Amino acid sequence: MTEQNNSTEHPTIGISVVTLFPALVMSVAGSGVTGRAVERQRLSLATYNPRDYTTDTHRTVDDRPYGGGPGMVMMAEPLEEAIDSALEENSAQKDALVVYLSPQGQRLDHNLVCELAQLPGLVLVAGRYEGVDERLLESRIDREISIGDYVLSGGELAAMVVIDAVARQLPGVLGHSDSAKQDTFAGTGLLEHPQYTRPEQYRGMQVPEVLTGGNHEDIRLWRKKKSLERTRQRRPELLAQLELSSEDRRLLQEIEVEKTDRSDN
Ligand SMILES: C[S@@+](CC[C@H](N)C(=O)[O-])C[C@H]1O[C@@H](n2cnc3c(N)ncnc32)[C@H](O)[C@@H]1O
Repeated sequence: MTEQNNSTEHPTIGISVVTLFPALVMSVAGSGVTGRAVERQRLSLATYNPRDYTTDTHRTVDDRPYGGGPGMVMMAEPLEEAIDSALEENSAQKDALVVYLSPQGQRLDHNLVCELAQLPGLVLVAGRYEGVDERLLESRIDREISIGDYVLSGGELAAMVVIDAVARQLPGVLGHSDSAKQDTFAGTGLLEHPQYTRPEQYRGMQVPEVLTGGNHEDIRLWRKKKSLERTRQRRPELLAQLELSSEDRRLLQEIEVEKTDRSDN
């Protein structure tokens, strides 16, 4: 096991990753928000390599598929023993959810991330090759999660995506406590408004005046309007799912009028 938390305090969530590439996964603990989550003892991260649970000299973890076909399949036993070690060694993980990262799983979204962030522990199993012996999935996996409709070469990057997204939701991890709530998909369910920083003029483009005017209510309304406009343009299906306030409806009407005015001119 490789571990990245020397804390005596109980972390908010303990995540173990079963992987053939522990260094790749542990790199997520070295910088940025996930690094801070580990440092602030909100997240403990450990890896378990199935090769450490083999008995032959070649430390074999894969074999040819029954019935023939290309590629290799990960054997159930080393994976099962790695999962068992993760569950036994990490007390936070007694009630951990055991997840197999898979292109065939439930698609990861904001709601699922928030659900995972509430758990005391997660064991993330990263597959390689053509995947994992189905009997391991049937007997030891609670849930399969996909990070999108495409196929990666291994589950490590998917596990790192889950770790990063979960870390953002843990209390005390982000610099400003409201940051995660303002993110796209969070809080309002809308896409986030556009952001600007210095300089005020960039290649002839000016920061919208309202943002430099210092009127907080005007800024709030401008941001809300931009969020509504963006969501309607880019992800109309998200807008259709929301219960709109009277303010939202008024702002959407304004957007509609402005659009008509623009096309008339
Ligand atoms: C090359 S893939 C195997 C794909 C498998 N043959 C299939 O068609 O379903 C190897 C590993 O990458 C991981 N993986 C690939 N795509 C993924 C995705 N979209 N989300 C999560 N994990 C993925 C899984 O752990 C999988 O076992």
